[in-house]
Amino acid sequence: MDDISRVTRSKAEAKTTYDALSGWYDLLAGSSERKFKEECLRMLDLRAGETVLEIGFGTGEALLSLARSTGKQGKVFGIDISDGMCKRAQLRLRKAGFADSVELKSGDATSLPFSSGSMDAVFMAFTLELFDTPDIPIVIAECRRVLRRGGRIGLVAMARPDRAGRMVRLYEWAHHAFPVWVDCRPIRTQIFLEEAGFITLDRKERSMWGLPVEILLAKISI
Ligand SMILES: C[S@@+](CC[C@H](N)C(=O)[O-])C[C@H]1O[C@@H](n2cnc3c(N)ncnc32)[C@H](O)[C@@H]1O
Repeated sequence: MDDISRVTRSKAEAKTTYDALSGWYDLLAGSSERKFKEECLRMLDLRAGETVLEIGFGTGEALLSLARSTGKQGKVFGIDISDGMCKRAQLRLRKAGFADSVELKSGDATSLPFSSGSMDAVFMAFTLELFDTPDIPIVIAECRRVLRRGGRIGLVAMARPDRAGRMVRLYEWAHHAFPVWVDCRPIRTQIFLEEAGFITLDRKERSMWGLPVEILLAKISI
């Protein structure tokens, strides 16, 4: 994992950046990332009555889909470090009539404020790659802790191939040069998950602006 770029931006800077971006985020990232999230949500195949957590929900687009899939008997939880994103997501949910079935918290995903074994599923898109390399196993261990036995996780993240192409190298350079604004970087999500004891159920490779994206469905091995 030595070739994965480190994250030098602090959590406080992440919070400030996403607060500032919250009003613009859908314009900046919405359409290019949507299809990957939708594909992962289909793989996660949530059922009515299930309980699911989204980490780094942003403006809340996927939260709506999670709430629709789990229905009135289900429950959706979300955590995001940015208060600005929390406000945006809450507004979206209220407008769509789902404010009661979704509970949002603002906080850092390295310490999830949820009970062990309380979730049927966890969903996270374009967020795991914001954590510095030593924090990634901590976040995944937290996901594992809050999942029930047999619980599943759906993840979408920029992927780091063994042989990085020109676009990946260019992106990693930009991440190094502008760590506050180019905050994501490609990582090896499947390896992190399997090292934490998850079993991969499905994996798809996609491309966004010439950059590899990994869509994964995994479950707890015991
Ligand atoms: C790149 S955005 C992706 C948002 C959303 N998942 C999407 O795909 O549209 C990353 C999100 O993760 C949140 N985030 C960043 N660091 C976090 C942390 N340490 N804990 C929880 N959320 C964090 C940001 O506030 C932001 O909303």
